[in-house]
Amino acid sequence: MTSVAMTVNGKAVSGEVEGRTLLVDFLRNDLHLTGTHVGCDTSQCGACVVHVDGDAVKACTMFAVEADGAEVATIEGQASADGTLSVIQQAFQDHHGLQCGFCTPGMVMSAADLLKDNPKPTETEIRDYLEGNICRCTGYHNIIKAIMAASGQEMPAIAAE
Ligand code: FES
Ligand code: FES
Repeated sequence: MTSVAMTVNGKAVSGEVEGRTLLVDFLRNDLHLTGTHVGCDTSQCGACVVHVDGDAVKACTMFAVEADGAEVATIEGQASADGTLSVIQQAFQDHHGLQCGFCTPGMVMSAADLLKDNPKPTETEIRDYLEGNICRCTGYHNIIKAIMAASGQEMPAIAAE
């Protein structure tokens, strides 16, 4: 076992992990931050996206020991302490950007990463960026709409998929 210490959502945390322990498993099983989901464990679905040192990372592709000393952000840290949703979370709610919600934490974390670097993405840029996030329910239309709204843009009229 190896000791790891990192900051998660602004709070210092530590634990003992095996070398093979994935970051997503450390978050979920050791820290009980179960908002980060596991949909595939093979880097396909994006349900496990978190931020590590400011960049979006699929937490099933990273060992917990690799995040030693890092600043990690998860979906649990997106809302304010009083429960006020982030702009992106609120936009997903307002524009029905989710159905079952399984993909949503990863979608929100990916969207946050996109808007950090590209505050006014086009519809095409959003669709390209979300290539690594799979949603089984929504047809993506309302997810795109929510991200455009979160960036202060109107959703252009497009045909529902
Ligand atoms: S669980 Fe990590 S990409 Fe699917
Ligand atoms: S809302 Fe169900 S998988 Fe996306």
